[in-house]
Formats: sequence, structure tokens, C-alpha cells
Amino acid sequence: MQLKELFCLRQSCRNFDAERKVEKEKLENIMELARLAPSACNSQPYSFIVVTDDELVKEVARCTQSMGMNKHCSAARAFIVMVEENAGLLAKTGGRLKDQDYASIDMGIVSAHIVLAATEQGLSTCMIGWFDEKKLKEILQIDEKKRVRLVFAVGYAAADDKIREKKRKDLDKLVTYR
Ligand SMILES: Cc1cc2nc3c(=O)[nH]c(=O)nc-3n(C[C@H](O)[C@H](O)[C@H](O)COP(=O)(O)O)c2cc1C
Repeated sequence: MQLKELFCLRQSCRNFDAERKVEKEKLENIMELARLAPSACNSQPYSFIVVTDDELVKEVARCTQSMGMNKHCSAARAFIVMVEENAGLLAKTGGRLKDQDYASIDMGIVSAHIVLAATEQGLSTCMIGWFDEKKLKEILQIDEKKRVRLVFAVGYAAADDKIREKKRKDLDKLVTYR
């Protein structure tokens, strides 16, 4: 698949096929491609919990649902939960000296790897930033001092799901050349 085609196919899925299970092998492939992501000082300041157990999947879905948000997560068949890890001295010192948040940049990059790797395998994803962090940590037994930064809902899109046109800033608003 051409890169542009892959990028256009990747969209936030809010219409998962609740009946279609996600193959473990595909999740492993996604995580292998996540592993290849670059990061500041190669610090890789993240770890992931891949949730496939049906009961746990339901509980994670509930953690993303409050105030009417993320109803679509009920039909996701897997979740990938990203936890921020210690960036290590070099990246942290560099970030402090340069007043840059390298860890967040790194987590954004690895997130792109995850959703694109999933898309390439015919899966659909939705990055979820709206979740009950405390509850999620309890359910998944994550150290309460750590931060959960993003949740990825994973599944197959329903048969009637359509690829939407991307609504983005025009290039002239996005880029200047000097
Ligand atoms: C950090 C982050 C958090 C997000 N949180 C949510 C969320 O909680 N629920 C949701 O439905 N979509 C969420 N999204 C998806 C965005 O709304 C979506 O990426 C954006 O509207 C562009 O649409 P597209 O992904 O379909 O191209 C999130 C995306 C990002 C990058």
C-alpha cells in the first residue's frame, strides 16, 4: 500500500464491528512496529498494555465513557493502553535544558506508528484521550504514580463504515516556506 493511501485510510473509527475479534498475531505485529519508533535519545519513555480479555475489554471501554463520550468504544474488541515511563537522565536533562517536552513528542510518534500499523493490517483504531485514569490504573494494575497518556481502541470497522474525507487546515495555513 502506498503511504498516502495508508494515511487516508487511517481514521478514527467510531463504528466498530462488535462481532469481529482481533487476531493476537495482528496486535503483536502492531507492537513490533511501535517498537521501531524513534524517540529523543532513544529513551522510549512508554510502555503498553494490550487488552484482549473480553471482560477486561468491556471494563476498559467503560473507563472511556463518561459525559456521553466514547460510546463507540463498547464495540471495540481490543485496547492498547499507553503508559508513560521514565525517559532516562539524558532525555530528561536535554528536555529541561532546551525547555522541550520530548516525552510527549515521543509518545505522539509511537502513537502514529500504532494506528498506521493497525490500518495497514486492515484493522481500525480510535485514539482515546478521554478516560478515567484512576479507574483504568486500578483495572489494569498500573502503578498509581505512573501516568496513562493515551488509549487506543482497536477492532474491525463495521461493514457499513465509510472512509471520510479528511478535514484539515489548508496547506497555506499550515506551512510557510522561507
Ligand atoms: C490525543 C488524541 C485524543 C483523542 N481522543 C479522542 C476521544 O477521546 N474520543 C474520540 O472519539 N476521538 C478522539 N480522538 C480522535 C480525534 O478526534 C481525531 O483524530 C480527529 O478528529 C481527526 O479525525 P481522524 O482521526 O478520523 O482523521 C483523539 C485523537 C488524539 C490524537
